[in-house]
Amino acid sequence: MDLAKKFRNIEKSAQEEVKKARDFESLEKVWLKYLSRKGELARAMKQIKKVSPKERPRVGQVANRVKNNLTVFFEKAKLSIKKQMLTRSLRQEKVDITAPGERPKKGRLHPITQVQNEVIDIFRSMGFSVQEGPEVETDYYNFTALNIPTTHPAREMMDTFWIKGKKKRPEGRGILLRTHTSPVQIRTMKKFKWPLRVIAPGRCFRHEATDASHEATFYQIEGLMVGEDVTLAHLKGTFDYLVKRLFGPKTRIRLRPGYFPFVEPGFEMDITCQVCGGRGCSVCSQTGWVEIIPCGMVHPNVLRNAGYDPKKVTGFAFGMGLDRITMMKYGINDIRLFYKGDLRFLRQF
Ligand code: PHE
Repeated sequence: MDLAKKFRNIEKSAQEEVKKARDFESLEKVWLKYLSRKGELARAMKQIKKVSPKERPRVGQVANRVKNNLTVFFEKAKLSIKKQMLTRSLRQEKVDITAPGERPKKGRLHPITQVQNEVIDIFRSMGFSVQEGPEVETDYYNFTALNIPTTHPAREMMDTFWIKGKKKRPEGRGILLRTHTSPVQIRTMKKFKWPLRVIAPGRCFRHEATDASHEATFYQIEGLMVGEDVTLAHLKGTFDYLVKRLFGPKTRIRLRPGYFPFVEPGFEMDITCQVCGGRGCSVCSQTGWVEIIPCGMVHPNVLRNAGYDPKKVTGFAFGMGLDRITMMKYGINDIRLFYKGDLRFLRQF
């Protein structure tokens, strides 16, 4: 075959294959086939020397032209593939900035934590500071120091989770999950001198059957104010301010006698029923009042056990149940909802 024609054929078929290439990979294959050192063009070039001297310059010219043409053709093809790829990825990766966004998932505070924070704020505004004590307590702080010796029937009032040890601990030396936050009263008085104004929020535990108003774990906020001439009037004034801020200015309080070994006298404080506003309904058993905070004047034995002199100082103490207060504030009728972790419930707060 005429070698010049062969060059032209190579040019033609190389161009056709280049046109079919859609990506760099297939283009590369075509390049290898035709333009590489062992490609068809190179092989054809080697045959030029066999052509008669007379014909050689013409064939040589054709060969060079084909080579240059193909080189340029390849470069152009490369560029256009690059462009195509760019437009393709631009189209595919396009971001619609007008599309509605996805809401970030926000966490929130548990309703009891929210009310706890609110109560802490209110007490802080009255000059109280916050103290904490351990959830695993000793018998001494939880009972004995609070005027509840081992023989005291009041121990029966608080069914206790005892921590087991290898050896059985002697009576009065046991370790337990605190049944109330009152042990923090003793810890605080042992740590600081009077006068004192503290609250102690925390988790408590009781070995009880659960129902709509009882849980084996719950939250309290303990309060303690000790100083010269602290009287019942301080306690009433403090609560009056607290409930008006927590439940609204129309809320009233009243004290009824109640018994706790660590206070004398002891009280149950009631507030105006939040459901009926005091007119009487099923929630308050038609009385218009609901019981919310057990309290009283700190018993002299307790002051003495903590190293204070009951002849010099007096004090009041209270232990409010946060679960109850949160239930009343939001109209929740089952305490167990707080501890289920059900998001449908928790998202409402
Ligand atoms: N600690 C008592 C309880 O949990 C409540 C209380 C605290 C009563 C302080 C009086 C004074 O039942």
